[in-house]
Amino acid sequence: MNTAPILSVNDVQVSFPVGGLATRSAILGVAGVSFDVRPGETFALVGESGSGKTTLARAINGLQEISNGEIVFDGSRIDGLGKGQMKPIRKRMSMMFQDPVGSLSPRMTVGDLITEPYRIHGAEGRNLTDEAARLLSLVGLTADFASRYPHQLSGGQARRVGVARAIALDPALIIADEPTAGLDVSVQGEVLNLLNELRERLGLAMVIITHNLHVVHHVADRTAVMYLGRFVEVGETEAMFAAPRHPYTAALLSANPEPDPDKAHDRITLPAEVPSLLSRPSGCEFHTRCPWAQPLCAQTPPPSGDVACHFPLVPGAKPPVSKATA
Ligand SMILES: Nc1ncnc2c1ncn2[C@@H]1O[C@H](COP(=O)(O)OP(=O)(O)OP(=O)(O)O)[C@@H](O)[C@H]1O
Ligand SMILES: [Mg+2]
Repeated sequence: MNTAPILSVNDVQVSFPVGGLATRSAILGVAGVSFDVRPGETFALVGESGSGKTTLARAINGLQEISNGEIVFDGSRIDGLGKGQMKPIRKRMSMMFQDPVGSLSPRMTVGDLITEPYRIHGAEGRNLTDEAARLLSLVGLTADFASRYPHQLSGGQARRVGVARAIALDPALIIADEPTAGLDVSVQGEVLNLLNELRERLGLAMVIITHNLHVVHHVADRTAVMYLGRFVEVGETEAMFAAPRHPYTAALLSANPEPDPDKAHDRITLPAEVPSLLSRPSGCEFHTRCPWAQPLCAQTPPPSGDVACHFPLVPGAKPPVSKATA
């Protein structure tokens, strides 16, 4: 199957000015990333806090100007479009923001919240009461939720309302920023299952953003691991989970509780300090935290490609002994 991508992100950078007049410089929140998402596919962006996930999502949605690269949605370039030109695009690309309760206006009922997209983009003769009931049923809530207010919802219900809003205009792509953050593990699973179900039912493409790799295991077809605004590893999720190739991916995977006691000794502990974007490390930017860094890693940037590492882990083989700190 080789359908055209619904979204192509090509070498995108986002630069933020920092410092005062005399010390003016810029940091790269996103430092050149590329990926495609095809219709019906779920692509995950994973990385620690500050790795640039939200900045990248905002750039795709046109809320953040990019300083290099291009963004193609449904066959047309959308980077650099003005607010008015982005409006029709936002009908087809909806965004679920990182703070779900904060992004729901407290004084609006659930019914008004989920039908707001119709009022913004034109209801075209729809009966909004019927639409509210239809959307609520799609996200597994009963019609009487329409008269409730956000503060009367549980975390999981609030997330379902956010999903209902996101699917209201029948988008081709949903970008969901931390859709499960702050939820109990069982409710996280419910929300992910819902997104997955809707993707199949409505033929959506999705970009799911999370700091927890395990969240994406069963929902993402492909996953990109971000570090300091770059992709350090990108590939099929299953293969990545079975055999992470970048040491950072391996560390993120091992950072979560491992139910299999035989694997407990595999845990990789990284030094806590993430380098500042103001002074990016030389060579491979992960070398300052990499348990297996070699002298070359501090000197030369890693090869570009799906695994940005000089010495990718080899499945079944022991990782090299670090010589950088010896
Ligand atoms: N408007 C801004 N001005 C300057 N720097 C910014 C701005 N917005 C984000 N940044 C910086 O860009 C980097 C990436 O931030 P971003 O919010 O995209 O990270 P994130 O991966 O979404 O993190 P989290 O998991 O905490 O949500 C951070 O270092 C952040 O401080
Ligand atoms: Mg974020």
